[in-house]
Amino acid sequence: MAKVLVLFAHPGQRHSRVNVPMARIASSIDGVTFVDLYAQYPKLDIDVDSEQERLLQHDVIMFQFPIYWYSTPSILKEWQDLVLEYGFAYGRTGDKLAGKVFLPVITAGGPDHAYTEQGSNRFRLRALLSPLEQTANLCQMRFIAPYALFSAHDAHSNDRFDQHLEGYRRLLEALRDGTVDIDAAARLELLSTDTLPLQEGKADE
Ligand SMILES: Cc1cc2nc3c(=O)[nH]c(=O)nc-3n(C[C@H](O)[C@H](O)[C@H](O)COP(=O)(O)O)c2cc1C
Repeated sequence: MAKVLVLFAHPGQRHSRVNVPMARIASSIDGVTFVDLYAQYPKLDIDVDSEQERLLQHDVIMFQFPIYWYSTPSILKEWQDLVLEYGFAYGRTGDKLAGKVFLPVITAGGPDHAYTEQGSNRFRLRALLSPLEQTANLCQMRFIAPYALFSAHDAHSNDRFDQHLEGYRRLLEALRDGTVDIDAAARLELLSTDTLPLQEGKADE
């Protein structure tokens, strides 16, 4: 079984309707380590040594966050700036993350059609996430397609919310059980409840 680490960042959890229920799911699954970064580091005083040690102990690294100003909430940037050190994550001898799988798990207030070159947000979500993708590449991690929910505010008014939660559970369990087809997931634009590529023959094991 793979060890899955979820680094959760949401600075306004009392208003959260989607990420907090998702976080509850992640924290309830065996083999998944769930970390609420804002709860652990309310003053952003990130413990670099223990974060690096935690990374070494996991095979799959996930950032779960609501998109804020087309990017991550600030603690995830602070975490990257401090934890992904030269000689640890990158550089001549910095290969400690090599081979690990990395993916963002994102909710967005905007609808999917806004996240196109012709749409009001002018960029695809995947394009806006290119700094994370290239950071993963530099650190020799396998970046796979983000698991994304658009129009997060009205997900409750239809059955998309329940489907998204259930899809998150399936994604976490499949990553833990090693049944995700990582090559196929890396080629996809985004993961959704309908597009989780499983390795043939492993789906029913
Ligand atoms: C400060 C702030 C910035 C935001 N920026 C964006 C944004 O750039 N794009 C977008 O689609 N939604 C944006 N949103 C909406 C959030 O992404 C949305 O409220 C969140 O994903 C919903 O998840 P939650 O119910 O767990 O909070 C922003 C919200 C806040 C509070």
